[in-house]
Amino acid sequence: MLLLTDEDVERLVPVAEVVKAVEKAFKNLSLGRDITPLRTRINVKAHDGDILFMPCYVPDLGIATVKIVSVYPSNASKGLPTTHAAVVVADPETGVVKLVTEARALTGLRTGAATAVAAKYLARRDSRVIGLVGCGYQAKWQLLALTTVLSPAKILVTDIILERADQFSKDISPHLGCEVLVAASAESVVRSSDVVVTATTSKEPVVKDEWVAQGTHISAIGAFTPDANELEPKLVARAKVVVDSRQAALSEAGDIIKPIQMGLMTADHIHAELGEVALGHKPGRVNESEVTVFKSVGLAVQDAAAARVLLDHLRVK
Ligand SMILES: NC(=O)c1ccc[n+]([C@@H]2O[C@H](COP(=O)([O-])OP(=O)(O)OC[C@H]3O[C@@H](n4cnc5c(N)ncnc54)[C@H](O)[C@@H]3O)[C@@H](O)[C@H]2O)c1
Repeated sequence: MLLLTDEDVERLVPVAEVVKAVEKAFKNLSLGRDITPLRTRINVKAHDGDILFMPCYVPDLGIATVKIVSVYPSNASKGLPTTHAAVVVADPETGVVKLVTEARALTGLRTGAATAVAAKYLARRDSRVIGLVGCGYQAKWQLLALTTVLSPAKILVTDIILERADQFSKDISPHLGCEVLVAASAESVVRSSDVVVTATTSKEPVVKDEWVAQGTHISAIGAFTPDANELEPKLVARAKVVVDSRQAALSEAGDIIKPIQMGLMTADHIHAELGEVALGHKPGRVNESEVTVFKSVGLAVQDAAAARVLLDHLRVK
């Protein structure tokens, strides 16, 4: 059995390969080819944290995986990262465990990849400005993956803690082929961007409907519980909404659940799963003026896809 660290994953796994693998994973999911039970979430109220257990079996990839991932937003005050994760990969033929790997980087890679696949089908082809709200661990992966499918002239970043945005822009700039500027507020980012990514730990909306111009694409990857949302409900209700999984979004995503509870939309307002769009079963963006929202809660099949890329680079079957 192999034991790997996040550093190994970062060194071995090319972002662009994960984007391709995750697109295939979304297609397979929408075709019903995988066994992906809903994840189990344990809310550790006493310590303001959530621990998620995410299993799946992907016959096409020849692996079964399970990830344990914890999200502890108040870890920052203890000098610890918000998210910690590990993935276990088993051989479905024998049940033998092939690999155990730290999975912060793997999670970053596959979450960035989901945003990239969504942008490929939902963002305007002429998108020139990318805006990012939330400059924590996910931020780097969001931009590295997104710039495999879009060629922005400029990236605007912000965070509720502006020093983080400052530091992030300095760290990430050398890895991207365009300028990365810090904006003073989410409003200024959203008003100036063609594509907006929200990657925050906020439980309250960070994007207001009135800031969003026609033609904007938004990828909301933060809020992952029914009581948390990053987008104002009326924004979701007026947008073309694509989710990673209908079942998961309707059970877990406050960004989808709240507008339904408020009577602003019904579950039928979800236009498609990303896999259905990638397969061509449902249209992606059809004109320059629609507002599109991709809501990601994060799926086990994305972890399996990224783990397969890792195994291939390790030459493990
Ligand atoms: N969809 C997925 O598949 C997926 C995968 C991994 C993580 N996530 C989620 O993404 C989010 C970010 O994760 P992370 O590991 O980067 O966390 P992090 O703590 O490293 O970063 C979050 C950043 O958001 C900022 N922030 C919080 N509230 C804000 C607000 N109102 N406005 C602007 N910025 C704000 C924080 O200051 C911080 O810099 C979490 O909610 C996490 O659960 C989703």
